[in-house]
Amino acid sequence: MSQTPNAIHAGQEWWRSAVIYQIYPRSFADGNGDGMGDIPGIISRLDALQELGIDAIWCSPFFKSPQKDAGYDVSDYKDIDPLFGTLGDFDNLVAEAKKRDIRIIVDLVPNHSSSEHPWFQAALAAAPGSVERDRYMFREGKGDNGELPPNNWESVFGGPAWTRVEDGQWYLHIFDSSQPDLNWANTEVREEFKSVLRFWLDRGAAGFRIDVAHGLVKAEGLPDVVENNSTMSGEDGQKPKDRVSPHPFWGQEGVHEIIREWRKVVDEYDDRIMAAEAWVMPLSRMAKWVRQDEYHQAFNFGYLETPWDKEKLEAVIDESLEEFGAVGAPSTWVLSNHDVIRHATRMAYDKIPKQGDGIGPDYEQPNTELGLRRARAATAFMLGLPGGAYIYQGEELGLPEHTSLEGEYRQDPTYFRTQGKRVGRDGCRVPIPWEAAKPAFGFSSAGETWLPQPDSYASYSRDQQAGVAGSTLELYKQLLKTRKAHDLGHGSFEWHEPSRSEHSMGFVNSGILVLANFNGPNIKIPAGEVLLSSQNDLTSGELESDQVVWVKL
Ligand code: GLC
Repeated sequence: MSQTPNAIHAGQEWWRSAVIYQIYPRSFADGNGDGMGDIPGIISRLDALQELGIDAIWCSPFFKSPQKDAGYDVSDYKDIDPLFGTLGDFDNLVAEAKKRDIRIIVDLVPNHSSSEHPWFQAALAAAPGSVERDRYMFREGKGDNGELPPNNWESVFGGPAWTRVEDGQWYLHIFDSSQPDLNWANTEVREEFKSVLRFWLDRGAAGFRIDVAHGLVKAEGLPDVVENNSTMSGEDGQKPKDRVSPHPFWGQEGVHEIIREWRKVVDEYDDRIMAAEAWVMPLSRMAKWVRQDEYHQAFNFGYLETPWDKEKLEAVIDESLEEFGAVGAPSTWVLSNHDVIRHATRMAYDKIPKQGDGIGPDYEQPNTELGLRRARAATAFMLGLPGGAYIYQGEELGLPEHTSLEGEYRQDPTYFRTQGKRVGRDGCRVPIPWEAAKPAFGFSSAGETWLPQPDSYASYSRDQQAGVAGSTLELYKQLLKTRKAHDLGHGSFEWHEPSRSEHSMGFVNSGILVLANFNGPNIKIPAGEVLLSSQNDLTSGELESDQVVWVKL
């Protein structure tokens, strides 16, 4: 299918074409030598990001938090955790980034707070039925003495989604027991979050990435999760365990009213955005979240979950452009983040290891070389597409997952809640390498880092790649520069029929052919000026297996 979707012409706002770089503050750069990344560390490395050519940074949470889920358990939404710095550091970050034309997006975590949030502490101290308890999801249990949880919901991290408190009531936590779900039917909760939005917008945040945007509203009466294969026999794109109709806590219709309230607040300011982390499928459903008066963007997880496979990629690109285009929103594209196995490692396997978990020392270890080759091709393919793109810190270095991290170092609650059956997400969260010869590869002056780095990270260090022709870092710089020079983010899209074969596929965006060879025999590169290639060696004049070129036709 070839098309020129509406979204492409829907406006020239910065976010429609932006490349947004995700910083995981714990692991980006350590400014105070305690082995943990922080905001001063980020500021000290902004020049490197300016050189890379990104438009904005989304920072995973740096708010006050007991760090039970690496900061996604917030105990004060309007302050910075001392681990990461101060509000003054945040202001400096916004100012320093602005000098370099980079915007700062913060991470809003509205589905749940930390159990140490004063509201939850007050709820524990108050009686059942109190105003304090109504801010969360407290319920009576089932069974003769309320000894059974109120329903059969399971935590995303494993185990039951309910924990019982001393007086016998249970509270809901879709994630860890240290992350009680807030009650979004409660007016005070709603008002407080609007004030949180304003707090960060007033300080100069360019907007928000909204955590678990699909979880806020729960179905009336909190019914059991019931597997239902009759009406949704897998064609909905949901994973089997989520294939329930309708799901009682994912993607409830009630979320849209909340999003619209937030959008009004954000629109009081110039040029700010909200991007939803919404794991809802299919994309036609996800597109509802980015209608004109709702979120600006949603992460395209359908794309992230698509392997390096010609037919599957073609289908997801068509669907994305069509569905997002139909509501006037740009599609986004993303391959890695802090919750999934890094794509340089994912693509090293023929059968992709289960998403959301990591890879442990007992698993089959990846073919790193193949993974990197495919990851470079996949990124070169993705960055040619029109719309917004997200990249995750370290991928510009071709960084693989840490796949041999021993259990004793693991920190992800998933590891503990499943007694190690699922190793969890630590492998993609390891501190990134800057300078090969320095302690902690330049991440921290302390030799020790909060998660240990594998020795192999030395060769991926930024200083080993900067200025080196053919390095992954230089490839990313070239991709971003060329993308910007030709305004591909706001560009057009059409499949290039002449270059289609069993193993190859290409599309044209604004006069540039982005052509891929998917694990096939060499193919001839069409006439034109080759602007860049995912592999340095183009001496044969042919496009080799798992390689992408950009050709100006
Ligand atoms: C989101 C975050 C993830 C976190 C979870 C609970 O999915 O990306 O890291 O554990 O929400 O807040």
